[in-house]
Amino acid sequence: APDVSLANVKAHLSQLQSIASANGGNRAHGRPGYRASLDYIKSRLDAAGYQTRIQSFTYAGATGYNLIADWPGGNEDEVLMVGAHLDSVTSGPGVNDNGSGSAAVLETALTVARTGYQPSRHLRFGWWGAEELGLIGSRAYVNSLSSADRSRIKGYLNYDMIGSPNAGYFVYDGDDSDGVGAGPGPAGSAEIERVIQEYFAGIGVPTRGTDFDGRSDYGPFIRAGIPAGGTFTGAEGIKTAAQARLWGGQAGVAFDRCYHRSCDTTGNINDTALDRNADSIAHAVWTLAGGS
Ligand code: PHE
Ligand code: ZN
Ligand code: ZN
Ligand code: ZN
Ligand code: CA
Repeated sequence: APDVSLANVKAHLSQLQSIASANGGNRAHGRPGYRASLDYIKSRLDAAGYQTRIQSFTYAGATGYNLIADWPGGNEDEVLMVGAHLDSVTSGPGVNDNGSGSAAVLETALTVARTGYQPSRHLRFGWWGAEELGLIGSRAYVNSLSSADRSRIKGYLNYDMIGSPNAGYFVYDGDDSDGVGAGPGPAGSAEIERVIQEYFAGIGVPTRGTDFDGRSDYGPFIRAGIPAGGTFTGAEGIKTAAQARLWGGQAGVAFDRCYHRSCDTTGNINDTALDRNADSIAHAVWTLAGGS
């Protein structure tokens, strides 16, 4: 799989930061910074040859938007989806949560176009609105699909917070290998987990599982029986001493001290974590979608 340019991912993050700064300091559902974020992502995808559409929904008295982008080609009966929520909370610009996932997924999509990738499976990307209010946009998307269209989606990769400053390297535990937590994901989730683990093993970075606890947009997909996976570098949880020995960083400190705060700015990103996770997206897409 190709390298995903960290510099380009960070340039998208600067754009999202500027959008927040110009719109009252956030990119939240129902606020102008959300729509401006969506317009930025859409314009980049349109220029690269994606077929894009905006799906609107109403929540809490405001119109919300998902952005769906299809890469033309591939077997439409076997769709691989990759997604990230694009909204922030109202208290800050949401650069790690979830500019990081949004920007890395965008740059992966642009890398698909730049390399002229012709996958065997059909590739579809999604940026979700109103995740912070309860996975509203991703649920609206999954609910909008016919049962036939749902069954065509063979996998969903989710990226929510992948540049946490005191990073951990978590992979969604699709096989429930530890027997702890929410149990395994739908059949196929184990394979997704393995493919992502294979990337990190190849660069010598140890990973740990994180449960499908329902806190991000894979939730509506797994409830619909769609295999899912992805990575996460930690939110308000505190890094343990054992985790600090494993990954470096500071024990006794949150993975992201600026989680849901005004300090979740471009300064709140661990470049190494963001780079590795972005490259893991390309590895997962190229492996799971096949072709060349
Ligand atoms: N979805 C949470 C948020 O946006 C963050 C989170 C992601 C928590 C993944 C746990 C696992 O605030
Ligand atoms: Zn959040
Ligand atoms: Zn989030
Ligand atoms: Zn596992
Ligand atoms: Ca588990």
